[in-house]
Amino acid sequence: MQILSIKLANHSYPIYIGENAMDNPQYFNQHLKNNQKVLIVTNTTIAPLYLERLKHTIAISGIINSDNLFSIVLNDGEQYKDWSSVERIVQCMLENSFDRHSLIIALGGGVIGDMVGFTCSIYMRGIQFIQVPTSLLAQVDSSIGGKTGINHELGKNMLGAFCHPQAVIADTSVLKTLDKRQLISGIAEILKHAFIADVDFITWLESNIQNVLNLDEQSIKYAVYRSCQIKASFVEQDEKEQNIRAYLNFGHTFGHAIESHMGYGVWLHGEAVGCGMVMAARLSMLQGYINNQQYLRIFNLIQNYGLPVIPPTYKDMNFNDYIKYMSKDKKNQNNQINFIILKSLGNAQKNIATSKEIECSINI
Ligand SMILES: NC(=O)c1ccc[n+]([C@@H]2O[C@H](COP(=O)([O-])OP(=O)(O)OC[C@H]3O[C@@H](n4cnc5c(N)ncnc54)[C@H](O)[C@@H]3O)[C@@H](O)[C@H]2O)c1
Ligand SMILES: [Zn+2]
Repeated sequence: MQILSIKLANHSYPIYIGENAMDNPQYFNQHLKNNQKVLIVTNTTIAPLYLERLKHTIAISGIINSDNLFSIVLNDGEQYKDWSSVERIVQCMLENSFDRHSLIIALGGGVIGDMVGFTCSIYMRGIQFIQVPTSLLAQVDSSIGGKTGINHELGKNMLGAFCHPQAVIADTSVLKTLDKRQLISGIAEILKHAFIADVDFITWLESNIQNVLNLDEQSIKYAVYRSCQIKASFVEQDEKEQNIRAYLNFGHTFGHAIESHMGYGVWLHGEAVGCGMVMAARLSMLQGYINNQQYLRIFNLIQNYGLPVIPPTYKDMNFNDYIKYMSKDKKNQNNQINFIILKSLGNAQKNIATSKEIECSINI
């Protein structure tokens, strides 16, 4: 089992990573209190797979008696990351007399994690929660860093708060039931962490493609661990994204444009980010930072993990479509689109780009 600690100015918390971590009551015990009410929030896909397993772990911890352990099963899907689901969680807590000392456990992917974190940030002005991320994306990215939120019909993640969990318990064994496309989408964020921070990790990922894709126990544990470590270090240095935390958006300026224009779910987030990273790497090359050989290393790694590297055809998405979405990016300042580019492999920075450079980057 690997244990990481994320150290912030006002709060520190552990991230436990390993096969069957969810079955170990020790990881939960230190974050639970006697007589505390606990609610597990999950969805219709994950409940039949893991809800009883998690309830059993909490039960054998001996701290929470069965009368105080509740669960709620929400609909599965990004479209349910909304107010009505938050209201269902709140309703359940109020009906069962949850107070400021109660706790929620988020059992699911990034949708459940974001929504639970947000609910905890507002319920009675803030209650504690534990993340049990079940998708690869949630294990290596969304469960760490304290960004929580829900969608509004006029925009994704438009309502949110910074709110950190008490602990993250990432059980790599649950990735076996994850759809292959979702797994590969999560790998995009692992590659991103390597590209922006660690050239040795890039080399390791090049040498372990089949091991990672086949969920070899040691390999997936290392990939999740190193990825969490990189994300944690950016968050520790810049918790509220005033500066270098924005490097974690490498590939996302182009990727979000593809995701939004094509319609959510048509391209999964990681697929759009994979292709977006190819574009951002191309921009880094056009601006004279990385050479053709380094660009090809990035291109090949993304492609070899099964992620798309070719953007939508010009007919589906043209230059103006990219600009339309990229102009609304939250990183922009002074009406200029900010990109994250690579100064070298393992080293990122913020930069602006000319229209010509953007056009050449999207025409792969
Ligand atoms: N807070 C952050 O910093 C942050 C960062 C990145 C993404 N996000 C958010 O995360 C969300 C995307 O997360 P996601 O990709 O995990 O999506 P998701 O939560 O929708 O999970 C993807 C699918 O996999 C299923 N699933 C999850 N774990 C499973 C398992 N072990 N076995 C079988 N099926 C399983 C889910 O039910 C769902 O159908 C988005 O809403 C995005 O905005 C947040
Ligand atoms: Zn992402």
